[in-house]
Amino acid sequence: MILITGGAGYIGSHVNKALHKKGYDTIVLDNLSHGHEYAVKWGEFIEGDLSDSDLLKSIFNSYDIQGVMHFAAFTSVSESIEFPVMYFKNNYKNTLNLFKNMEIANINKFIFSSTAALYGNPESIPITEKNKLNPINPYGKSKLMVEKILEQKSKEKSNDFNYISLRYFNASGADPDLEIGEDHNPETHLIPLTLDAAIGKREKIAIFGNDYNTPDGTCIRDYIHVCDLAQAHINAFEYLQENFENSDDIKENSVFNLGNGNGFSVKEVIDTCEKITKKEINKEIANRREGDPDILIADSKKAINVLNWKPKFNSLDKIVETAWKWHKKLNRNI
Ligand SMILES: NC(=O)c1ccc[n+]([C@@H]2O[C@H](COP(=O)([O-])OP(=O)(O)OC[C@H]3O[C@@H](n4cnc5c(N)ncnc54)[C@H](O)[C@@H]3O)[C@@H](O)[C@H]2O)c1
Repeated sequence: MILITGGAGYIGSHVNKALHKKGYDTIVLDNLSHGHEYAVKWGEFIEGDLSDSDLLKSIFNSYDIQGVMHFAAFTSVSESIEFPVMYFKNNYKNTLNLFKNMEIANINKFIFSSTAALYGNPESIPITEKNKLNPINPYGKSKLMVEKILEQKSKEKSNDFNYISLRYFNASGADPDLEIGEDHNPETHLIPLTLDAAIGKREKIAIFGNDYNTPDGTCIRDYIHVCDLAQAHINAFEYLQENFENSDDIKENSVFNLGNGNGFSVKEVIDTCEKITKKEINKEIANRREGDPDILIADSKKAINVLNWKPKFNSLDKIVETAWKWHKKLNRNI
């Protein structure tokens, strides 16, 4: 059985579905601060908080847990700038609590939801795992702190702990069966916000800055479909299991970028949303936001080669199509 922390959230719920399709049993732990009970459609669900050691102990004692996939975190960059301590507490301190209880229960396989935010303003594009780590906001810093602890933990001789950290770029799209999809509240991501404007839930979409050093002046990002991310988690977990005895190999290969290797500008994303939804979307140019790099594009060759990962949703059209179908279902009363 695999424990999925944060499995009622966007990415965790898609990974839960993919794990079940592959025959794994799962248990989701989520405090529903941002997730939805309706999104836990597979396996068991326990509502609770990562900071609750008694609960973690009882889960680890009651179930035969092979490994943990850890999604639970706060995820908004702008909120992290406003409330940094809250971010360090949830994303770092609560993760340490999880580690402590995993250690007591002797659970030694761990997959971590890391982020492209670790790279800050990258020195070179596309970004490989060897790029300098220089997060520029508390969200990214809190994730880097977890990665550093993971690295130390896996080096401790007394400990047969192994992990894989997956640094996602912009997760997007939805389950093509429309059982689950993106439903953040508040929403901060470009595609669902643009679709909100298409569906009439918001008046317009703001483009934060059109004077970046990119061909059309708007920021360029790498969008990766959530189902491709889900598949990468299965490949990573199986890689951990298969190579566990040979842990030097895993230590060489414990960190992977997950992106699709193509960059799309904010304007291109909005144009694609207009094309797929067949609606004209109101836009306005707003001021730049603090700490937005010009371009973030992943080099994910390592995941493709080592984890044998084969992303399927390789075009922005396909990503937006699934997002739009889900968005209409989610907002059918509007
Ligand atoms: N969405 C992206 O584009 C993206 C990109 C890079 C990394 N990530 C990382 O992926 C993970 C999942 O992101 P998401 O977009 O699915 O976010 P999400 O908010 O939809 O999911 C996170 C889930 O964790 C739960 N949670 C938070 N704190 C908790 C706690 N203390 N105890 C129990 N449950 C708790 C929330 O209720 C929520 O269901 C996060 O760790 C995030 O940092 C996301």
